[in-house]
Amino acid sequence: MKQTAAIIGGGVIGGGWAARFLLMGWDVRVFDPDPEATRKIGEVIVNARRSLPGLSDVALPSEGNLSFHDTMSDAVQGASWIQESVPERLPLKRKVYQALQEHCGPDAVIGSSTSGFKPSELHGCATRPEQIVVAHPFNPVYLLPLVELVPGEKTSPAMTVKAKEILTAIGMHPLHIKAEIDAHIADRLLEAVWREALWLINDGIATTEEIDDAIRYGFGLRWAQMGLFETYRIAGGEAGMRHFIEQFGPCLEWPWTKLMDVPELTDTLIDKIADQSDAQSGAMSIRELERTRDDNLVTILRGLKAQDWGAGALLNAQDQRIAGKPVLSDDLSKPIVTVERAVPLDWTDYNGHMNEARYLQAFGDASDRMMLLAGVDADYIAGGASYFTAETHIRHIDEVHAGTVIRVETQVLSGSGKKMHLFHRMLAGDRELATGEHMLIHVSLETRRACDPSPKISEALQQVATAHAALPKPHGAGKSVGVKG
Ligand SMILES: NC(=O)c1ccc[n+]([C@@H]2O[C@H](COP(=O)([O-])OP(=O)(O)OC[C@H]3O[C@@H](n4cnc5c(N)ncnc54)[C@H](O)[C@@H]3O)[C@@H](O)[C@H]2O)c1
Repeated sequence: MKQTAAIIGGGVIGGGWAARFLLMGWDVRVFDPDPEATRKIGEVIVNARRSLPGLSDVALPSEGNLSFHDTMSDAVQGASWIQESVPERLPLKRKVYQALQEHCGPDAVIGSSTSGFKPSELHGCATRPEQIVVAHPFNPVYLLPLVELVPGEKTSPAMTVKAKEILTAIGMHPLHIKAEIDAHIADRLLEAVWREALWLINDGIATTEEIDDAIRYGFGLRWAQMGLFETYRIAGGEAGMRHFIEQFGPCLEWPWTKLMDVPELTDTLIDKIADQSDAQSGAMSIRELERTRDDNLVTILRGLKAQDWGAGALLNAQDQRIAGKPVLSDDLSKPIVTVERAVPLDWTDYNGHMNEARYLQAFGDASDRMMLLAGVDADYIAGGASYFTAETHIRHIDEVHAGTVIRVETQVLSGSGKKMHLFHRMLAGDRELATGEHMLIHVSLETRRACDPSPKISEALQQVATAHAALPKPHGAGKSVGVKG
């Protein structure tokens, strides 16, 4: 049975939480008095559907059910996670906790998205402060994994453990912050940069666009993958961190920055910033900018995934949790599902559909999965043998767009001796998208020449090939280029 999350306040942040829980297989119940909430959350979910599922290399759990409720008491029914994302006003937040604790279960985690308040401030007049934690996410919540988890003095340790487990299960990185401070960690860092940027504009030194360029062409890319300290460690060269601090530490005493002060936000300064920002980005609507942002984030995150590094390593771990261990089914009477995943944003091209090279990638992934199911795992390959692809024939039958779930079904045509002959069919529901016929040869990684696989692998492949021999010969198998059908 699906778990239930209640979303209290469905604006920018609440909408993102709703999308993440929903796409990770939770039922989501929303309460927001804004008559536009249904439309706004609907639009966020459309964007989340085109970006989040394709970030995974496996199929996400089936989507949960989304419902909107007229009262908070109704919305929290059956919820094991309640996320409060109402406007950043302490009396309002406190009133919300009082009201919802009259109706929610005592075991539910109540997370607050607050950017600035300490959990003990939120506990204020709550009837059960032990179930309230700060769970501060980052926009877009459905793509960015960080959530600052701050328990207060009265939060029960068991609730903190439960909160970590749930946040991890929905693909996030809960950063447990042990001390309560205003604005937690990340917003303090962001505010330091924001203050400095306001001065640079106020003093006429840089425009909004120049400041953005200074970040996105340079240190923003470094920060995205290593953060601050690991980056500076490398900047210290072979002498490392100590040398870096000795070299640049004294600069901190020079009057380089103005962090201790903020410019007065006069109408003139606000107009200047707003006008520069309009000139920089006004040609695109917010929804267009959001989609461009999501495309960029997915591309960076998938790059980090290929490196199994930072946020990418987190995504790989989540894929493994969802997919479980590869096991050959006892029922071999049908082709084997070797790939089930959404088409990622970075697999589509200028025609708006999946690029031909990605069909090969999906079929390559299907062959890899078949190898794994036959026992060709990392240990076997480290032992000095693997399969290499010798021949491929792909028939492109229909187009497919980002976000669509594709499935590859694999029939083993033969698995004897050094050869593994596979026929893959790619489908979206019942719609056939492509077929791929592949001949793989078992190779010694030492001599780089063909050799027989281990008896265990031979036996597994033979077992599948014998069972699949009872299936009809797949349509399109053995065809060469240009032959119809
Ligand atoms: N915007 C960000 O980048 C960001 C990032 C992290 C955390 N936060 C935090 O998230 C929270 C929400 O911020 P936001 O940017 O989503 O604001 P928002 O204004 O976009 O959304 C707030 C929503 O709460 C609804 N609301 C108002 N009163 C309510 C009530 N009594 N019960 C239920 N819903 C109610 C409003 O109708 C609105 O839809 C704040 O605490 C903020 O500090 C914001």
